[in-house]
Amino acid sequence: METLQHNITARKELEGLGVYKPGKPIEEVQRELGLNRIIKLASNENPLGYSLVAKDAIMSEMEKLAFYPEGTAPVLAEKLAEQLEVSPEQIIIGNGSDELLRLLTRSYIRSGDEAIMADVTFPRYETNVKIEGGNPIMVPLLDGVHDLEGMLAAITDQTRMIFVCNPNNPTGTIVGKMELKSFINQVPDHILLVIDEAYFEYVTEDDYLNTVPLVQSHPNLIVLRTFSKIYGLAALRIGYGVMHPDFVKELMKVKEPFNTNRMAQAAAAASLEDSNFIEKCKRENDEGRQYISTEIEKMGLSCFPSQGNFVMVKLNQSGDAVFQALLHKGIIVRSGSVLGLPETIRVSVGTKEENEAFIQAFREVVE
Ligand SMILES: Cc1ncc(COP(=O)(O)O)c(C=O)c1O
Repeated sequence: METLQHNITARKELEGLGVYKPGKPIEEVQRELGLNRIIKLASNENPLGYSLVAKDAIMSEMEKLAFYPEGTAPVLAEKLAEQLEVSPEQIIIGNGSDELLRLLTRSYIRSGDEAIMADVTFPRYETNVKIEGGNPIMVPLLDGVHDLEGMLAAITDQTRMIFVCNPNNPTGTIVGKMELKSFINQVPDHILLVIDEAYFEYVTEDDYLNTVPLVQSHPNLIVLRTFSKIYGLAALRIGYGVMHPDFVKELMKVKEPFNTNRMAQAAAAASLEDSNFIEKCKRENDEGRQYISTEIEKMGLSCFPSQGNFVMVKLNQSGDAVFQALLHKGIIVRSGSVLGLPETIRVSVGTKEENEAFIQAFREVVE
């Protein structure tokens, strides 16, 4: 069919922006390569699925799909507030933490404002800031770790927001407790400091700051977390932010009225009850992370020290080539070239069998 021409252009802020490229879906690889067994270790998903308690909650909500959900997910917000020892007014529930990032930039970034972030980090910070006409200020990582001193030095009169991803995606690194505390204390209080803790529950290292209690003493501090990772609810799209109640009020004006669905709200609330499942996921992830890093080191290569559910492997060759070769062996990882570090790949921690299959295929590819 012929496409008709028109002369309507999108806002200039969208010029040059790309569409987010997620990890390659299993179905797509199956179609393209005709392989039977495909292991996806590309999107930092939970290989153990999600809690059975959540499954029951989802099933009972299915009966009520004809009815809109509660717009602010008050039951979940109350439960989180209790667990986190904050007030429910300090919590906003989002359609994934992705939505909360967008609500924050939509509500607070004005044209020309600067937002400081690491280079490289989760790409949605940069995209959302650009959509609002803001200027992302990228501060290079120091050996895979946020350069907090460098980020402080990048503050200008135009700085409106700072993003710290801790653990950082894609390197998996964390910043030290004292260092982050001192950073939080030094960021001027007219700048919004957003700490993205999507991988918080996977951290086993002691030198990791629990930032939520600091929201009470630092009104400019915002902490984001998600049910997509350790809780295994990525497809339901649900995450949360902890912040000063004034910010929650503003973001509520901007969010869609029914931004999270019934099943997501119920599943997330139920998941909070099942601490055994979370402990199991954390333990198995830690074992998998250690196994992958150790095996990679035996091959004479190295990884960034990860506290997430993924490991970034440093190669002496193009990440694209290794990604393609692994794909032909039925293993989907992410090439570092799409993540900003071309000579790396990022592999999500899978089940024990999946991790072993990855290591075997990786060994064949690099040796
Ligand atoms: C650092 C980080 N933040 C936020 C997200 C978004 O997560 P979701 O929107 O699924 O909550 C991700 C997803 O991979 C992430 O890695």
